[in-house]
Amino acid sequence: MSVIRKIAVLTSGGDAPGMNPAIRGVVRTALSMGVKVVGVRRGYQGLMEGDIFEMDYHSVSNIIALGGTVLKSARSPEFRNESGMQKALKVCRDNEIDGIVVIGGDGSFRGARDFTAHGVNCIGVSGTIDNDISSSDYTTGYDTSLNTIVEMTDRIRDTMESHGRCMVVETMGRNAGYLALNGGIACGAVAILVPEIAFDIELDVIQRIKMAQSKGETHFIVMVAEGCSPQFGGVDALAKQIEAETDIESRSIVLGHIQRGGSPTLKDRVVGTRLGNYAAHLLIGGAGNRVVTFNKDEISDMDINEALAMTKEMDKDLYRVAREVTG
Ligand code: F6P
Repeated sequence: MSVIRKIAVLTSGGDAPGMNPAIRGVVRTALSMGVKVVGVRRGYQGLMEGDIFEMDYHSVSNIIALGGTVLKSARSPEFRNESGMQKALKVCRDNEIDGIVVIGGDGSFRGARDFTAHGVNCIGVSGTIDNDISSSDYTTGYDTSLNTIVEMTDRIRDTMESHGRCMVVETMGRNAGYLALNGGIACGAVAILVPEIAFDIELDVIQRIKMAQSKGETHFIVMVAEGCSPQFGGVDALAKQIEAETDIESRSIVLGHIQRGGSPTLKDRVVGTRLGNYAAHLLIGGAGNRVVTFNKDEISDMDINEALAMTKEMDKDLYRVAREVTG
């Protein structure tokens, strides 16, 4: 095994609060082990373009509380092609980069796997608000995002209550309903729709609102994951349908990118730091093609291919709890 003298760190895909603590974890750990670190700006795009800079102890001073990523992020289709890989390889050779810590989601991990196959060891660290990485029960950024959803929805609830209205709230999550499910529970949503569980608008939304109304409830939150919205023509269409069928004045809101910003919570600062530290040790120890996993508060690692082949089940029991306590 060749000695690791210099590693790189990059953030890729949709950003997430907690990416900065993870970057800091990687940089400070590597430096403490006598290994040089370069930061890559704009993910794989910046890697192909050689947009890199040497990082020292102070490069990561005061970033632990910052949202977003100081390294910037991008989605880079070109990196999926051989020509993109070759450009990035040349940058690594020219700059004597021995390995890379990639902070992102599944798409970023696929890039890390392919680049490891081209000869540069990569380690994947989770950074996504969606909590949709199958090899981990928790992903960096999820807690901050959930807390934002709760804060925003609590405000919405105040005005819904004053006016006796219903609000359909859309959370992020193209393929994953974790934000909607936990956000919905925390905000007392009368109905929650997630892409992993089949639903019927009449049964799972309208009837539940009517039932709650018959018990004296006067304001309602319906929480839906982004991935469900195409099935009913978007949250505005759903709000109109609710109003038509229940006579309750209804509105809709897409929380959107508000959920991706903001200072990371205590949990995301600690998890990001721990994952970054673990990834640096792995990479400097000579490993490649590994994903750092986080399950039941314990950190471990596994082969990227194995991790990408896994599927994550929606927590059906949690969904049951949500349905039993509201509506
Ligand atoms: O993957 C994270 C995520 O925030 C998804 O929940 C969402 O569907 C997507 O990114 C939005 O991506 P963009 O910021 O590129 O519009």
